[in-house]
Formats: sequence, C-alpha cells, structure tokens
Amino acid sequence: MPPVLGLDHLAIAVEDLDAATRVWRDRLGLRQGAREIVAEQGVEVQMMYAGDTRVELLRPLGPDSPIAGFLARRGPGLHHLALAVPDCREAVAELAAAGLRLIDREPRPGADGTLVAFVHPRSADGVLTELVEGGEGPWRRPAEEVRR
Ligand code: CO
Repeated sequence: MPPVLGLDHLAIAVEDLDAATRVWRDRLGLRQGAREIVAEQGVEVQMMYAGDTRVELLRPLGPDSPIAGFLARRGPGLHHLALAVPDCREAVAELAAAGLRLIDREPRPGADGTLVAFVHPRSADGVLTELVEGGEGPWRRPAEEVRR
C-alpha cells in the first residue's frame, strides 16, 4: 500500500440534510461548506469542515441510492471514511494482491476528477473505506472562503 497522504473525508448518512446541517453546524460547531447533488452516486452532499477535515453529510436522492439501503438497514450514522492516496490504481492493486476484499476492483471516477475505490468493510475492521486520488472539488476551498 502506498503511503496514505491523509484523511480525505468522513461521510455520514442522514435522512434530512437541513436538520443534520443544523446539528453539525449549530450544535457541534463544524463550518458549513457547499451543498451539491452528485447524481452519478445517487446522493446530495452537504460538505462540513472540522478544522481542515472534511465531513460529508450524505442524503440519498432515491430508493436506489446505496445510502438509502444503508439508512434502511442501520439508520443514520457513520457511512465511510476516505483516505487520500497518491495513486489509487496502485493502492487497489497492492491491496488486492495482499488478499483484501475490494468493492471496486478497478478505480472509478469520483466527483471532481477524483479517482476512487472502496475497500470492503470486512477487510477493514468493519469500516467501509474509500481510497481517493486527486480532486479539488468546490468544497475543497480554503477555509476562509467557507462561510459559517
Ligand atoms: Co466519500
């Protein structure tokens, strides 16, 4: 596995983005970033910031969204964490060679030009783990530009 550059983001599945934004902003003190529909992943994303660390609040756009299935099975909660890696393809190849279970055998395009792949929770202590390469999304603006 190539070195991990950092924690790219945490993602929390929620049923109501406005209500969740109020909790995480007004009660728990995170800063509010951009909101965006990512149709290809079937989610609406409200980006939040804990310092420099991004926290994505994810709402399913419809019943076919993977987030909808997660909410139905488990209710709102921590959905995945994402590790920034310099080379997603290399990371996937090394993990597969080491026998880890991968949801994506090949990296696929994520939002904003990123390349992403998911490691199955069974190979990561029960945590759905995303590997992310690249990306400078609208939410990855300097903290000063992110209004509360
Ligand atoms: Co993610």
